[in-house]
Amino acid sequence: MPNTTTSQVSTHSDTSHSAVGDVGAPRLAVLIGSTRTGRFGPVPAAWFAERARAHAAMPVDLIDLADYGLPENLDDTPDVGRLGDRLAEADAFVVVTPEYNHSFPASLKTAIDHYHEQWQAKPVAFVSYGGMAGGLRAVEQLRLVFAELHAVTMRNSLSFHNYPTVFDDDGTPSESGADTAAKQMLDQLHWWAVTLKQARAERPYSG
Ligand SMILES: Cc1cc2nc3c(=O)[nH]c(=O)nc-3n(C[C@H](O)[C@H](O)[C@H](O)COP(=O)(O)O)c2cc1C
Repeated sequence: MPNTTTSQVSTHSDTSHSAVGDVGAPRLAVLIGSTRTGRFGPVPAAWFAERARAHAAMPVDLIDLADYGLPENLDDTPDVGRLGDRLAEADAFVVVTPEYNHSFPASLKTAIDHYHEQWQAKPVAFVSYGGMAGGLRAVEQLRLVFAELHAVTMRNSLSFHNYPTVFDDDGTPSESGADTAAKQMLDQLHWWAVTLKQARAERPYSG
């Protein structure tokens, strides 16, 4: 069972495939946060994106930061613009992160720091993986960073402890509670995505 900070959350029966008011259904972006050669990140990200597609409340865009050469000096480049446009289209985010030296990868911080409005007044949830701590120390630090960007982080997260023993060769977690935990987190994220999308449309967020 993945270690989650899951509480009993109500699960909506209507997953709102249809438009919400006149603003349309919210869109979800799943971000692969690690970019190093030989990384594991695409495995949990692909699994979670599949769970999100099965949840069917939000169209899913799986974004791999390794596809973009984001400069650490925060210069504006065509890649920065391309990723910024993609992030701007999202109404909710799931950040998939490992733990590097008790924090999250520099690739993720660079991507976060390049943008501002793209994160504002939107919900963010986390899928983490690592050794004993399951990446939770990375997640706790990411909560602080996203607060600065006026994003709302979800209470529930999915964390895979000692992840090499958890994922099967086909990229599926062997833990029986993983699907349920993913659904609960997606339910929370969807509630916030709908609510904040409507709110942003009615009253643009001034920051
Ligand atoms: C630079 C570096 C630092 C790491 N530090 C930690 C750590 O503090 N805690 C932990 O649980 N795992 C740590 N690990 C192990 C990672 O959890 C593991 O390598 C994981 O596969 C990294 O994700 P990635 O493959 O997507 O890059 C570290 C790995 C790297 C490369």
